[in-house]
Formats: sequence, structure tokens, C-alpha cells
Amino acid sequence: MSDFARYLPRKLNELRPATAYAPSNIALSKYWGKRDKALNLPLNSSLSISLGNWGTTTSVSASDNGQDEVIFNGTQLSLDNGFAAKVIAFADRFRRGQPLPLKIQTNNSIPTAAGLASSASGFAALTVALAKGFALDLPESTLSMMARLGSGSATRSLWHGFVRWDRGLSQDGDDSYARPLDVHWPEFRIAIIPVDTGPKSFSSRDGMNHTVETSPLFPAWPEQAEADCKVIESAIRARDFDTLGQCAEANALAMHATMMAARPALCYLKPESWKVLDTLWAARTEGLSAYATADAGANIKLLFLQKSEQDVSALFPNAKLITPIK
Ligand code: PMV
Repeated sequence: MSDFARYLPRKLNELRPATAYAPSNIALSKYWGKRDKALNLPLNSSLSISLGNWGTTTSVSASDNGQDEVIFNGTQLSLDNGFAAKVIAFADRFRRGQPLPLKIQTNNSIPTAAGLASSASGFAALTVALAKGFALDLPESTLSMMARLGSGSATRSLWHGFVRWDRGLSQDGDDSYARPLDVHWPEFRIAIIPVDTGPKSFSSRDGMNHTVETSPLFPAWPEQAEADCKVIESAIRARDFDTLGQCAEANALAMHATMMAARPALCYLKPESWKVLDTLWAARTEGLSAYATADAGANIKLLFLQKSEQDVSALFPNAKLITPIK
């Protein structure tokens, strides 16, 4: 799919007000590296857990002042603001020059202090809101591919629970979309340990491309990640938490290792992140069943089950606990 124009009617319906919610997600087996930069096609499949009520609600309606408007968490943004420009550019993929000025209101429920990026939930919610507003009636797999053009991780943010994004093989990306796993695991818990809540120093987009282009360790990554994805999917289906946790932690550290070997090195983890990992690993030798993962930032995310909730809170008093599956 060179663009999603072919899934749209030549002339869009008049926009009816519509609202959509999408949860953010954390990959248990990561997407890192693209085989096509324009289409955000990944070199490997990935598997995530959505963050329940941590996400984005987006409403779209026709703007009545004849101009696009972007309102983020209640504040009207100037259209040359970076975030507003991305939102409008994404809406333009739908409009294709048709004069349909939009009012886009987006609210994040993710606490800023958690330092979590919200592009995944943001593009997923915007895709679904626009599709509803223009009465497009598209299958979820198509919506997932549309969200992918906003950001790779958004491909997985259309559903709650565990979601797998198949890398796909076709050049146009028509088989590169996500699907939810039919697994209910309400004891599953996540904690965010905030280390650095400021803006990213290096975007995941740039970090990914730099790693693919310069890291001598990168060639080993796609195959390992594909294998990890399979192990994690089976562990989820078998409710085998320790296999899942061990593989997710190893997968995250392998991804960070590819970045650290890039030239020049790319290191998102900060001294404080390593301290959290050290504390966790020491507690594991004492019997705690909790595992870590980290993305393109310094914050550490912990995976554990309900029974370890108190131990995790005692070990990390600043942990932000999430119950992803209710
Ligand atoms: O698609 P992006 O730019 O949000 O990149 C996501 C990269 C990671 O968060 C590190 C991994 C992932 O699969 O979410």
C-alpha cells in the first residue's frame, strides 16, 4: 500500500463529529529497524501489551472557522507546532487536497511524569476517529496499516490486551498489520519506573535508522527478534510468565545492545536506568518474579503478576502501576 488512498472513496463524505480512544502500548518483543522508511515496514514482527486506560482520546469535527485547528490537552496549538504539523499531515493523507477544514481535539490520559511517548496511541486514535467521522467502514486490519503510516508502534495500538504485528513480506505493506491475541490475563501488571520524563534526545525514527545503517550488531537482530516474538506468543498462550519475562527482558537488552554498538553509539539508558536494573536483578536472586523492558528512552518498564504488586511497590516507591487487562 503506497498510501492508503486506495482504501478511500475518491470524494470523502462530509465529516460527522466522531471520537475514538486508543491505548498506548509497550512492546514485549520490539520493533526496531525498517525495511521501508516511507511505509514504516518493519524488518521483524513485534508483540505488545496495551496499557488499558493509559492512552489518547481524539475527537474530530468540521472546523467552523474555515481553518484547521489542533487542540492538545485543552490548549489550542499553533499550526506550525511540530505536533500539530504531524497531526495535520496525517489528516491530509485522508483529505488528499479536498477542502475539509478540521477541528482535531486530542487528550492524553498518560501522566506526563511517566515519560511515555504517546505517538502510538495518538496515531491510532486519530486514524479511528477520522475513519468513523468520514464513515469509511474499513476492516481493522486496514485501520492498523493506516495507523502504521503515522508511527510503527501505532500499528499495535488499535486493540487492548496482547497484540502481535506481523512484519509481512509484500513490498507495498499490505500484509504488515497487527491483530489482537485472544488471551485474557487479568493478573498481568506493568509498572513504569520514571527515570527521565523530558523530551527524547533522539527520536526512535532517527535512532532506528542510525542503528540499521551503522551498527555491526544489527544484522543479528531481525532473526533473533522474530524468534523472540514466537517464544513470547507461546508463553502468553501458556500463561508461562517467567518464560515471557525472561525473553522480553533479553529482547529489550539485545535491542539496546544493537544501538550501543552503532557508530557513534546511541545509548538511551541513563545511569539511573542501570540502577533500576541492578536493583531488580538483585531482587530476582531473592525470588522476585519481575522483568524489565525499555524503549527509546531512559525509563524502565517492569512486567510482573498481581501477586508481586506489593514487592514491586516496596522496591520502587515511585513506580506507576498499570493494570492493562481488566
Ligand atoms: O514506531 P515508533 O517510532 O514509536 O518506534 C517504536 C520503537 C520501540 O518503542 C523502541 C519499540 C516498539 O516496538 O515499540
